[in-house]
Amino acid sequence: MKAVIPAAGLGVRFLPLTKDQPKEMLPVVHKPTIQYVVEEAVAAGIDDILIITGRGKRSIEDHFDRSIELECALDQNGRRKELAEVMRIANMATIHYVRQKVQRGLGDAVLLARQHIGDEPFAVMLGDTINLSAVPVVRQLMDVRKEMGGSVIAVEPVPRDKVRDYGMIKGARISDRLYEIEDLVEKPSPEDAPSDLGITGTYVLSPRIFDCLERTPPGRGGEVQLTDALRLLSKEERVYGLQFEGRRYDIGDKLGWLKTTMELGLDDPELGPPLREHLRALISQKT
Ligand code: G1P
Repeated sequence: MKAVIPAAGLGVRFLPLTKDQPKEMLPVVHKPTIQYVVEEAVAAGIDDILIITGRGKRSIEDHFDRSIELECALDQNGRRKELAEVMRIANMATIHYVRQKVQRGLGDAVLLARQHIGDEPFAVMLGDTINLSAVPVVRQLMDVRKEMGGSVIAVEPVPRDKVRDYGMIKGARISDRLYEIEDLVEKPSPEDAPSDLGITGTYVLSPRIFDCLERTPPGRGGEVQLTDALRLLSKEERVYGLQFEGRRYDIGDKLGWLKTTMELGLDDPELGPPLREHLRALISQKT
């Protein structure tokens, strides 16, 4: 299976931080956000990845490319560990790039993958969402698809005050964590949300989604929404929602990013203990 990582958004919620820097390259402890996403795909056995980029996103390509000068310098200085790490990043997967020339939304970005994907099911993994789990979340979705067919999307309960930031689903529960989706709404008001289950940004889709995307008019924000195309798809084929096992870290806005950085920093064996001590002292000082 191939994966598509949409990473063409303007990062408006992060301005001015993202004026000249892709939000997918924001650091989370040791690595940029998008590296976590690529690593999840690779851990799930996916080695062909298409990243949808746009103007101003060159640093994503550079990050996954060889860096000959850096490699030479690390080699000459005997920095073997660092050298192995930069080589690993450059050789992790076969990565292809397509540019979205005009910002027409997530649905339009996914449609740009049609030629590369062809007539096969494929994964979509948002470039600003980190999943940490024993079994990669995308693998959990692939396993459901293998058993049930159709398309499978990751969902989780969303607090009421966050509903406006998510695509929300209505589903009939068919087992402990699995729902058959009956309806989807992109970023509704809390009163209009069909349930408390939100779309978290990892999808395994049937190629029929491309036809649905072509028939999807611009929706919320004047953009072609993947959620709207999924609603069309759910009328033609089965679409499941899986409440996955694992933790999802939302890098979609500044607070989410700061919280993730803190939490994963605290979990780091080397940085965790001194960071914990510093935060404790800081909090008692500031309160
Ligand atoms: C996108 C999707 C939305 C989903 C969200 C998850 O929105 O359109 O359905 O719930 O990702 O992060 P965005 O956050 O790109 O505005």
